[in-house]
Amino acid sequence: MGSLWGSIMLLCGVFLLRVDGSAAQQTKTNVPRLKLSYKDMLESNNLVTFEGLANSSSYHTFLLDEEKGRLVVGAKDHIFSFNLLNISRDYTQIPWPASSTRRDECKWAGKDLSRECSNFIKVLQPFNQTHLYVCGTGAFHPVCSYLEVGKKLEDNVFRLDPLVENGRGKSPYDPKLLTASMLIDGELYAGTSADFMGRDFAIFRTLGKHHPIRTEQHDSRWLNDPRFVGVHLIPESDNPEDDKIYLLFKENAMDGEHAGKATHARIGQLCKNDLGGHRSLVNKWTTFLKARLLCSVPGSNGIDTHFDELQDVFVMSTKDPKSPIIYAVFTTSSNIFKGSAVCMYSMTDIRRVFLGPYAHRDGPNYQWVPFQGRVPYPRPGTCPSKTFGGFDTTKDLPDEVVTFARSHPAMFNPVYPINNRPIIVKTDVDYQFTQIVVDKVEAEDGQYDVMFIGTDMGTILKVVSIPRGSWHDLEEVLLEEMTVFREPTAITAMELSVKQQQLYLGSDIGVSQMPLHRCEVYGKACAECCLARDPYCAWDGTECSRYFPMAKRRTRRQDIRNGDPLTQCSDLQHQDELSGQTTLLDKTVYGVENSSTFLECSPKSQRALTYWQYQRSADDRKQEVQSEERFIRTDQGLLIRTINKKDSGIYLCQAVEHGFMQTLLKVTLEVIDTERLEDLLHRNEEAAVSVPAPHIPPPQENPNQKLWYRDFLSLVNHPTLNSVDEFCEQVWKRERKHRKQKAHLVQQVQIHQQQQQQKVVNPRAHMHAQGLAANWKHLQERQKGRNRRTHELERAPRSV
Ligand SMILES: *[C@@H]1O[C@H](CO)[C@@H](O)[C@H](O)[C@H]1NC(C)=O
Ligand SMILES: *[C@@H]1O[C@H](CO)[C@@H](O)[C@H](O)[C@H]1NC(C)=O
Ligand SMILES: *[C@@H]1O[C@H](CO)[C@@H](O)[C@H](O)[C@H]1NC(C)=O
Ligand SMILES: *[C@@H]1O[C@H](CO)[C@@H](O)[C@H](O)[C@H]1NC(C)=O
Repeated sequence: MGSLWGSIMLLCGVFLLRVDGSAAQQTKTNVPRLKLSYKDMLESNNLVTFEGLANSSSYHTFLLDEEKGRLVVGAKDHIFSFNLLNISRDYTQIPWPASSTRRDECKWAGKDLSRECSNFIKVLQPFNQTHLYVCGTGAFHPVCSYLEVGKKLEDNVFRLDPLVENGRGKSPYDPKLLTASMLIDGELYAGTSADFMGRDFAIFRTLGKHHPIRTEQHDSRWLNDPRFVGVHLIPESDNPEDDKIYLLFKENAMDGEHAGKATHARIGQLCKNDLGGHRSLVNKWTTFLKARLLCSVPGSNGIDTHFDELQDVFVMSTKDPKSPIIYAVFTTSSNIFKGSAVCMYSMTDIRRVFLGPYAHRDGPNYQWVPFQGRVPYPRPGTCPSKTFGGFDTTKDLPDEVVTFARSHPAMFNPVYPINNRPIIVKTDVDYQFTQIVVDKVEAEDGQYDVMFIGTDMGTILKVVSIPRGSWHDLEEVLLEEMTVFREPTAITAMELSVKQQQLYLGSDIGVSQMPLHRCEVYGKACAECCLARDPYCAWDGTECSRYFPMAKRRTRRQDIRNGDPLTQCSDLQHQDELSGQTTLLDKTVYGVENSSTFLECSPKSQRALTYWQYQRSADDRKQEVQSEERFIRTDQGLLIRTINKKDSGIYLCQAVEHGFMQTLLKVTLEVIDTERLEDLLHRNEEAAVSVPAPHIPPPQENPNQKLWYRDFLSLVNHPTLNSVDEFCEQVWKRERKHRKQKAHLVQQVQIHQQQQQQKVVNPRAHMHAQGLAANWKHLQERQKGRNRRTHELERAPRSV
């Protein structure tokens, strides 16, 4: 065993050991390291909220303007402008309701007056230097207008142009429909539905100097009841003529593509300079192609589990603007099996699929097969440019090309995710993923993509995926789970401000804001900061704080890849009197025979697994305490239900996390029989008068300093990791202050210990011990009693 346990380090009495692989795997992996409730978030000043207006809702359309320091939010009947520094401090709102005539018409058409017949803002895009373009559903009558926001923050304008334009082909009629849009060079690209019934779905380009253009109408091969998730411009080469627009959506599988009803996730492409065909496909896209996005995990039975319900997409830019990474969030369509996944796609893979075989089908009863025949030139999907196509405009395309494009909008091969599988899968939880944003974070040992994932329960997961050995073996580390809305509600919008280091979140009920990191919550020890593996945070010598790559290296301690506190923190330990290997957080608990006792021990990290070891005496072999009738292991500690004489001995509370084991606590249980109890109670009364103050050490030298700490710890008598940390802080501070006097401690300590041993026995415990097997109530009583005692002991020295 010895070699496996590795070197031992000490950190304010907390031992850290490296454990072998099998023990490491015991770490709980699928739980967040830290879980913060809504209350925790508010109380720790980590959440700012805008609770919404009584006459509004659906805060779903976000536009982040880092330069002006504003977040513009489109909601039901209103547009808001929030200050990025603090969304609750100063915001302005513009009411933009539908006219009463429109509302009446909407109601007569059979729509729900309060839920559908309002103006739900769906489009919010930068138009020019001074104006945004904004569209809403206008009570089933889409409308658009210009919103003046000024050039600079100081301009302080937020004004809606009273002139409205027709919003058809820009905003949907029905607020429930998923649509996506993007305004590029004065032209609006929108995936939406263009009719009252919500049947005519299309990808439109409107505004600007060109004639509006769209996808072929009523052709399910092009689009089959699509629900749009995102629109992005991604350059194909250094020549802007090759720029492509990509649309992310889900739709019903095409006829013959799938047995039964199924949803498929898609990526669609268009050329930005597509002007439509000349003789056919007039004012229709001639360069539209789509491919299936796959995100699945192989099942043990050979059947893959598919995540097809595309929910959100985040395009993560890289050094090369032509090759961003596409992060996509999916859920399952199944009613029985609830699951979510995140998959990553590379542009190289996407382009390869668009260059591969087209999907082809001759008659309605045939399967889709890869097209094997001759593909006309220029290859459909190529943009008119000097780089690839050698033609100037799509209007010059040969008829043959246009005809082929019209009947072959889909590619045969799907796009597989990077590494052929999801980077995150979550199946055993009561929530599903809805949104994602990703931040690139510079850490000591490299760059990490930190994902913030929104759920349908109003929570945010902060996840970092860390390469184990290579890029092909990623480890998902769930750092935090935070509740950001007062009640469970789906997170429907998310923006990340790198400049402010803040995250902004939208839902039906309001808007919330939270910082990207809260390093201080990880704890007050180097090892805890290191084990957290949060790329935003590092140990700076005194506390866990924000890591800045530019700062002085020497003092920074961080190890995201391995989370190894041994290499990072061992030289920080207090070498002097703490260096004895037997020194440990050490306390003595007295138990009365046939009574019960509870040994508290709960690690702060939810990912740590605790287990208990028992040893009869310090030299004895350690053995694991198994859960059985008398010993019950809980997340808070170990409950011993009926103390037996032979239970006395040493109990070690171990926490294993990410391959490292720390001994959080060492408890010596002393079992007292009834006669001795009487005796002790008697002496206790006499001794109670004079408990010495251990922090004012008397002038006497002693080498055995560790007792001093142990004594303090039994005084604190509350072995949660948190208070141990606080305590360590105090000890360290005090230690520096009293370094010179310290040598005189021990006599004091010994006296105090004897007295404390006598005092610590609770008379109430004796009463309860009479014949009773302890129950929880009893236990709580004892806990209260013990805490009260602690306070007495702490006060006592001062009154002497
Ligand atoms: C934000 O502003 C509100 C209202 O002025 C204030 O109560 C709150 O403390 C501020 N929060 C932060 C994190 O600045
Ligand atoms: C909603 O209420 C706010 C005041 O809380 C008011 O300023 C706004 O005009 C109202 N909006 C509409 C559309 O009536
Ligand atoms: C931006 O567009 C609006 C609406 O068309 C127009 O009134 C305004 O003058 C334009 N601003 C600039 C700086 O071009
Ligand atoms: C403890 O319980 C056992 C069995 O119930 C009994 O024999 C013994 O006398 C009890 N001891 C005390 C001190 O009450």
